[in-house]
Amino acid sequence: MTDPVLSVRGISKSFGALKASDDVNLDLQPGEIHALIGPNGAGKSTLIKQIAGGLRPDSGQVHFLGKDVTLLSTVARARMGLARTFQISSLAMEDTVLQNALLGALGAQGKPFRFFHPVLKDSALRDIAETALSRVNLLDHATMRTSELSHGQRRQLEVAVALTLNPKAFIMDEPMAGLGTSGSQNLTTFLDELRHEAPILLVEHDMDAVFALADRISVLVYGKIIATGSVDEIRAHPEVRRAYLGEDA
Ligand SMILES: Nc1ncnc2c1ncn2[C@@H]1O[C@H](COP(=O)(O)OP(=O)(O)OP(=O)(O)O)[C@@H](O)[C@H]1O
Ligand SMILES: [Mg+2]
Repeated sequence: MTDPVLSVRGISKSFGALKASDDVNLDLQPGEIHALIGPNGAGKSTLIKQIAGGLRPDSGQVHFLGKDVTLLSTVARARMGLARTFQISSLAMEDTVLQNALLGALGAQGKPFRFFHPVLKDSALRDIAETALSRVNLLDHATMRTSELSHGQRRQLEVAVALTLNPKAFIMDEPMAGLGTSGSQNLTTFLDELRHEAPILLVEHDMDAVFALADRISVLVYGKIIATGSVDEIRAHPEVRRAYLGEDA
């Protein structure tokens, strides 16, 4: 087996008496989409935050590109290429599509924020931003205000912002949320292509999307991974059917 791009080893996190992460082990292999599913409140977002750096685990480690990043900040992990897209959109709605992509490119270079005019004239930054937009099919929309994009296009723009970081792994928390059926289908096609750029750890409730995309699925229940396997293995897993799909085994 090749070295995982990302690996979570024995992560635990409690909020008072509640064990939100209970000795979690998880890895992300090159080229794969690994879906993390589980009921509401299972601890999926809490785990994602610990992987991305927004929340410190009580114990356990996160390794990224072979390095222990457990104590690194979100920004330091992002600069290494750990690209997170958010459950709640982090885009500046009043800015144009291009400005949002430029802000990403600027952050990726570690340059301090200046005023927009100099940034717009910085041709190296503009190149990075426009390349990222063209790869998510949004270059035609560059001068549009971000608020005018559809939900699906905003998700694509978030990915474009992430692409400016030259990502080595994507972490996505419910990217399908708020998209209609056709929006989800479009994003599914898009993510299927994106996996060739970098592997994706995908938290998602939309099971059509999960079953269509995932190479592997891990199931989280009450902070514990109860199963990891292929789509077929997870569909047939008695404990998963009982705990998650709400069926009598
Ligand atoms: N900062 C916090 N302080 C206290 N409890 C928290 C905190 N963050 C999360 N929790 C609790 O931890 C548990 C896991 O929450 P989390 O948001 O990770 O679940 P989730 O699997 O992402 O759920 P959903 O599918 O609804 O997004 C929940 O019981 C939640 O109330
Ligand atoms: Mg969540």
